[in-house]
Amino acid sequence: MGVSVIIPAAGFGERMGATIGKQFLLLDGKPILVHTIERFQYCDMVDEIIVSTQRSSFSLIEEIKKQYALSKLRPPVEGGQRRQDSIALALRTIDAQSEIIVVHDAVRPFVHSKEITQSIETAKYFGASIVAVRAKDTMKQASTDGRVEKTLNRSSLWSVQTPQTFKRQILLDAYANAEKFNITATDDSFLVEQLGISPIIVEGSYENIKITTPDDLLLAEMLSKRFIP
Ligand code: CTP
Ligand code: MG
Repeated sequence: MGVSVIIPAAGFGERMGATIGKQFLLLDGKPILVHTIERFQYCDMVDEIIVSTQRSSFSLIEEIKKQYALSKLRPPVEGGQRRQDSIALALRTIDAQSEIIVVHDAVRPFVHSKEITQSIETAKYFGASIVAVRAKDTMKQASTDGRVEKTLNRSSLWSVQTPQTFKRQILLDAYANAEKFNITATDDSFLVEQLGISPIIVEGSYENIKITTPDDLLLAEMLSKRFIP
């Protein structure tokens, strides 16, 4: 069963506030995006990797492919306005042989091989899987003016990450449904949930952070010193 990986990397990194997209910032001397692609390049279950990015970064992607010998990396696909659009555009180009599609943020370089393989195995069996960690903080629900309405039961709450992995047809159906009914989401699982499908949680690691704000970059530098894929 073929496995395609889509890496959305077309964001502008507004919350990071750097002059270039945060996916291209250096971590331990190498672009964050390269660290992320390498996690999948070195996973035997993965057949191809598709990165969606801004057109102005296409040549950089081709350079990266050569420099780091990323043989599984396909030609870049132009991203869209929302993360969801960037993924939808990449979906059109996946190999016809691929039965499994993994979606993983460009800015989560600390994903372990175990999370990738478990995510794929679980999706093969159940159709849809998401990597997540147990919520650490007590979570409250509040009104828009900041008044606490209730305390949620932490034991049933998860912080969701990527990879999120799906059987090909499930993800295609979810995206078609989202387009038809104008649904916007920041994660693919939500779009799949709208089909009445419940993805299975694969318990991941707190190291798998999404590099979003400048403090995450400091944390990332620290994590990269001890990270074992
Ligand atoms: N992404 C994308 N296309 C978009 C928006 C986001 O491919 N139109 C990608 C980002 O490049 C990133 C991932 O989706 O790898 C997660 O998004 P996020 O952390 O929100 O990144 P940015 O959108 O770049 O950051 P910000 O929201 O702070 O601008
Ligand atoms: Mg964003």
